[in-house]
Amino acid sequence: MTYWGPDWDALAADDPEIAQALTDELTRQRTNLQLIASENLTSPAVLAAQGSVLTNKYAEGYPGRRYYGGCEFADVAETIAIDRAKALFGAEHANVQPHSGAQANMAAYFALGLSHGDTVLALGLPHGGHLTHGSKVNFSGKWFDIAAYAVRESDELIDMDEVRSIAVQRRPKVVVAGATAYPRVIDFEAFRSVADEVGAALLVDAAHFAGLVAGGAHPSPVPFADIVTLTTHKTLRGPRGGAILCRAEHAKAVDKAVFPMMQGGPLMHVVAAKAVAFGEAQAPGFTGYAQRVVANARALAQALAGEGLRIVSGGTDIHYLLADLTPLGLTGAEAEERCDRAGISLNKNAIPYDPRPPMVASGVRIGTAAVTTQGMGTGEMAEVASLIGRILKADSEVESVRAEVAELVGRFPPYPAPAAG
Ligand SMILES: Cc1ncc(COP(=O)(O)O)c(C=O)c1O
Repeated sequence: MTYWGPDWDALAADDPEIAQALTDELTRQRTNLQLIASENLTSPAVLAAQGSVLTNKYAEGYPGRRYYGGCEFADVAETIAIDRAKALFGAEHANVQPHSGAQANMAAYFALGLSHGDTVLALGLPHGGHLTHGSKVNFSGKWFDIAAYAVRESDELIDMDEVRSIAVQRRPKVVVAGATAYPRVIDFEAFRSVADEVGAALLVDAAHFAGLVAGGAHPSPVPFADIVTLTTHKTLRGPRGGAILCRAEHAKAVDKAVFPMMQGGPLMHVVAAKAVAFGEAQAPGFTGYAQRVVANARALAQALAGEGLRIVSGGTDIHYLLADLTPLGLTGAEAEERCDRAGISLNKNAIPYDPRPPMVASGVRIGTAAVTTQGMGTGEMAEVASLIGRILKADSEVESVRAEVAELVGRFPPYPAPAAG
């Protein structure tokens, strides 16, 4: 088969500066510990599809209904992506064009008929909600009347009685379930019942845990939600992008909300790469992957607790944990910076009822999707916890930990080394 794909030699010849940046990034991914909860390491097949000639094609519209000629192969790729997404999640309809999770959420709000001033009930940002769930600096917070729920202070879990009572009081048009920093399974059935009680639609933002749902390691929101939004690049291990699943009754509204309401031409090379990722998630091995991701997150949480960190909510059900650094006398920002110097990539994160501002924060969020892709298991999670524990307790350990991180990651290289010269 003839395939014209990424040509590193051509890139190096045409643009050595960018070639160097990409080579350095490859080296960083091969030598650092990737513990950022929203990241993963895609397969070479996903990279190939994303770096393909489909980037040249304009294909406004949908398969069979385009505003441009020459879309026959774009149609093939998008139809495969749609069919695989529907089969993977058991959804009645799928839209694979959103450029990202934020766009998917905006389209979902439009599809559910929200306009300026309408009320949306969502998890507040300080408690793990995403920017698109009502932050003042985001369109969602600027346009909509946001009713925010929190987690309970005593156990850091969502309190469904509180969600229900806010819903009854504020009568939202849309209820949002899903989070960016909430390490527990969400009770979708209970959210459906709250939405039904107040005549609202239920939007589940599955950006983070979509891959776990695909792999059977997390309950599916699809039977309960009007619309489910997701990203394709986190636990789903595909290209950077978004997608929307919905009931047939919302199909037309969702498609119109993505295009022409909010986006122009789809990124067809990314749509093709999404199709590849959905196909990979349908393969039998993905179930084991999803289970290992969760097992690793649980093992890491337990081992970090042994290092003196306080694990928010006492553990995790998904692919990341939130850890409170207060017992070690460090802020999230200090821990992130120290870990960075040791070759460990993670992010500072607010903990519930955090007294510190978000740019400082009292905690870190640590994810296992990427290291699990590399083949690490619970044994390695014990090593990772001990390395993190050492540097958090003594800055003087950074250099020796950095060497051990390189040795550990070197045992599980995610990609081949860049060619010399
Ligand atoms: C819950 C949630 N929704 C939406 C998004 C937005 O995704 P993107 O960064 O692809 O726009 C994120 C990103 O991390 C997220 O965590």
